[in-house]
Amino acid sequence: MNEVIPELLTYDEAALDRSFATLADEVRSEASALTTPEAQENFRLHWLGRKQGRLKLISEAWLKSAPAEARKPLGIRFNQLKQQIESALESPSATAKKPAEQGIDITLPGAVRAPGIPHPLLKTMHEIVSVFHHLGYSTNLGPQVESDFYNFEALNFPPNHPARDTQDTLQIAAQHTRPGRDRLLMRTHTSPVQIRTMVAQAPPIRIVIPGKVHRNDAADATHSPIFHQVEGLCVDTNITFSDLKGTLDHAMKALFGSAVKTRFFPSFFPFTEPSADVQISCIFCGGKGCRKCKHSGWIELLGCGMVDPAVFASVTAERRKTNPADDAYNPEKITGFAFGMGVERIAMIQHGISDIGHFYSGDMRFLEQFA
Ligand code: PHE
Repeated sequence: MNEVIPELLTYDEAALDRSFATLADEVRSEASALTTPEAQENFRLHWLGRKQGRLKLISEAWLKSAPAEARKPLGIRFNQLKQQIESALESPSATAKKPAEQGIDITLPGAVRAPGIPHPLLKTMHEIVSVFHHLGYSTNLGPQVESDFYNFEALNFPPNHPARDTQDTLQIAAQHTRPGRDRLLMRTHTSPVQIRTMVAQAPPIRIVIPGKVHRNDAADATHSPIFHQVEGLCVDTNITFSDLKGTLDHAMKALFGSAVKTRFFPSFFPFTEPSADVQISCIFCGGKGCRKCKHSGWIELLGCGMVDPAVFASVTAERRKTNPADDAYNPEKITGFAFGMGVERIAMIQHGISDIGHFYSGDMRFLEQFA
């Protein structure tokens, strides 16, 4: 090949830049055509060949007549040009075939992407919530880091009252300099959102509150320090205990099948009076008695009761801070009921799961069963 060596008339920076720009263009246009290994090799020889390579010929021609002070700027530019040539040889885009040219091997197994599913706990939580949505309830949420006031005081757990012992509370550190009611903790139940809702809005109220709660419990087959509850609150004129019974009886039948029966046992919660524990007839044996229901025929499922007037009093005190005449929660005029249930416990009964830990293990063999 008869190489044409471009002429370099002067050695000032501008002239150098111009000449090298022309060479760089040459390299770029040749590099774009490197579609085969042979073309690549020819390109390499053409530019980098040890004896007759274009780079070598040009650098010899230009350096020979260069004044001493032009040697350095020339050298720098030759190095840049060399790098450009080398990277054109390395760059896969210059040599790789386009995918369409490679063809597709239709004998390869396809890339199967498993579709995601809702986690079984979320699924159960949504089922519970949707039963109440159908009854006209809406959903409310609240913070997991809660103040002592909302988690306890406003719910009629006075400071230092033994009723607090039933809820092994995880306290947030370094709160002792704050006033008692402002001290932060991880909420032990979803009930504080009852207070938040009533402080924010006047009756009528029908809400469900799904969410995460925290207790300082040692993990075992039925306990986890983090678990989930769905709370319910209904406040209006003329709400009675029979409304509570009817609502929960319907909800249990919707969740576990129309054959289940419910019964209400006296219980205690500081924020409801009277309070009750709700049991459903054992869904495993139909009430005859089996290992699952400890041969009683009944399974205890949730707590509930009529909203205690002391709760309405704390709500009213809070509302009067912004509206001194507020009387929306006058217990002479309105009543309400509340209930709270554990999502894990319900999901375990629904699916016959014996260890709560499965929910949090992330074990695909467990989770896949709910797909
Ligand atoms: N908050 C109670 C608990 O976590 C449950 C409950 C809610 C009871 C509402 C009555 C009314 O134990």
